[in-house]
Amino acid sequence: MAELSFWHPVLLDKQLGDKPEPIRVLDQDLVLFRGEQGIGCLPDRCPHRGERLSLGLVRGGDIACPYHGWTWSPQGKGRCPGDSTFSPTIAHFEVATAHGAIWIREPGGRGQLPSFEVSGFRPLTVFRTRLPGSLERVLDNFSESEHTPEVHLMGFDPRKMDQVQVTVRTDEHSVHVVNRGPQRRAMRLLRLGVGVPPKADYVIEWTTRFQPVHAQFDHYWLPPGGDQPYDKRVRAWVYFVPVSEKQTDLFSFVFVNEGPAWERLGDALHARYARWDIEQDRPLLEGLAPELDDQQSTFGWKSRFDEAIDANRERLNLLYRGTT
Ligand code: FES
Ligand SMILES: [Fe+2]
Repeated sequence: MAELSFWHPVLLDKQLGDKPEPIRVLDQDLVLFRGEQGIGCLPDRCPHRGERLSLGLVRGGDIACPYHGWTWSPQGKGRCPGDSTFSPTIAHFEVATAHGAIWIREPGGRGQLPSFEVSGFRPLTVFRTRLPGSLERVLDNFSESEHTPEVHLMGFDPRKMDQVQVTVRTDEHSVHVVNRGPQRRAMRLLRLGVGVPPKADYVIEWTTRFQPVHAQFDHYWLPPGGDQPYDKRVRAWVYFVPVSEKQTDLFSFVFVNEGPAWERLGDALHARYARWDIEQDRPLLEGLAPELDDQQSTFGWKSRFDEAIDANRERLNLLYRGTT
């Protein structure tokens, strides 16, 4: 499958213990296990009589099928304890760990593991969110910020949305969006926790790329009408990983700029807020028309905030799905 030739995050590193863990990616059931020689990722079906390998145990470096005890190495080499005369094999995935997540791709796949540009930033949190909807439906939601004042607590002032400037720049491989406008008055606790100024222009700037599908988001603030940003900056990479045609996993890698030491006191609150913030999209994604899972992005009417949606979908089809 074309998509899985790119590195995808599939589980947080801390979520894989001694027991095998079933995962689902692009409608495929796979199993991850932590063996002595590293992490393995195999189809979650034993090729003998089709038992789920994820019900088995890790033995040494291999995973053992719970039914007849055949064992499988991370490279997909099998051993049958009851018959040493043959050596079965199954497909396997390459596995790597980076930035607190476990990543997989097909052997000999394309592209590199990401190296995030974070000099001057400290890691805030890494988390996974499983959202309802296809990759298309979920990515659309992260391609426009017109919904943010209705759905989220921080962001633009809902009464001043017509003042928000929207700039979209595209090239063959990426879609870059900048939205700038008056920030809403955030709750006091959030202002302290996240450290944003009470009255400011809020800017959200993001670039989406498609091999695999991911976006880099920068949030920062400026004095109203001014051009010198405040120091506070939040930078996040979000990877959109299709679980099935109806579910998409988001892996968020969130960083904040290094500020005075006391700011770290707010980190735990800020990290919780980041998770909670994405949760606010869930009921809206659930409520969307099923047609949006497929080729359709709107019901005919588009606002000036929607330009990136179609630009993203076009590149997603071409660069990720390998279709037009
Ligand atoms: S089904 Fe797995 S060893 Fe028989
Ligand atoms: Fe949202």
